[in-house]
Amino acid sequence: MRRVVVTGGGTGMGLATATRFAADGDEVLIVGRRKEVLEKAASAAPEKITPFVADLTRSDDVARLAGTFAEDPVDVLVNCAGGLVKQSGGGELADAVEQYRRTLDANLVSAMALTEALWPSLRRPGARIVSISSIAAQRGGGGAYSAAKAGLHGWSMGIARKGGPDQITANVVAPGYVQDTEFFGEAGRSGRHDALVGETLVGRAGRPEDIAGTVHFLCSDDASWITGQVISVNGGAYLS
Ligand SMILES: NC(=O)c1ccc[n+]([C@@H]2O[C@H](COP(=O)([O-])OP(=O)(O)OC[C@H]3O[C@@H](n4cnc5c(N)ncnc54)[C@H](OP(=O)(O)O)[C@@H]3O)[C@@H](O)[C@H]2O)c1
Repeated sequence: MRRVVVTGGGTGMGLATATRFAADGDEVLIVGRRKEVLEKAASAAPEKITPFVADLTRSDDVARLAGTFAEDPVDVLVNCAGGLVKQSGGGELADAVEQYRRTLDANLVSAMALTEALWPSLRRPGARIVSISSIAAQRGGGGAYSAAKAGLHGWSMGIARKGGPDQITANVVAPGYVQDTEFFGEAGRSGRHDALVGETLVGRAGRPEDIAGTVHFLCSDDASWITGQVISVNGGAYLS
């Protein structure tokens, strides 16, 4: 039994990842801002999945979450929370800058802060950290979102260096288009669905389970020599 933290674990890829670990008998804490969403997700495996309500852009929430692990080691941290942040206001420069900052907070600073806060609690040797970025980090097109996700790449490489002596690995999974998540809203799929599927070599959208499987592998013993990497999981939509 491992102790696993999955941010964004109430929906989409995070939920698929939490479910995958729980099926192994691991204890999984899922983190998000919406209590009812987390509780519904946890009800699928109530003895294995525990909800924790927190806004990871708030350092007091991050500290409160880390405090629950003051005595227990964390085996796996999956930084999955994030998404698109819309610009509000009248289109002034200040509105754009606000959207940049909120996007960086939601997708990059949140992962950095939680990893920092949990660092003393990570199991030594052998903890695993996986952060979810995006194909948008690799080929652009997402403005501040691309910048935030690309930031995860460089930051995670540094974490891999820091954790190496303790056999702690840190990797990034960069998904392409994954349907059946809340990323594109309630429909669970992009308005550009056909075009995005057409960009893949295998002719289909990703499923949350595709990402969960890769994350699960990166957290296995078989992946103990994989660290500091960015793993593309995108059906061939971007070749690397
Ligand atoms: N779907 C895609 O095609 C795609 C492609 C590439 C990368 N990604 C990335 O994959 C990750 C998972 O997204 P998904 O596709 O599974 O979409 P999703 O269903 O929208 O999942 C995102 C999760 O993050 C949580 N979250 C967002 N901001 C948070 C915050 N400040 N504090 C705590 N939790 C927060 C959300 O829950 P609450 O709203 O309840 O907080 C939600 O459960 C995201 O980082 C996303 O950017 C998605």
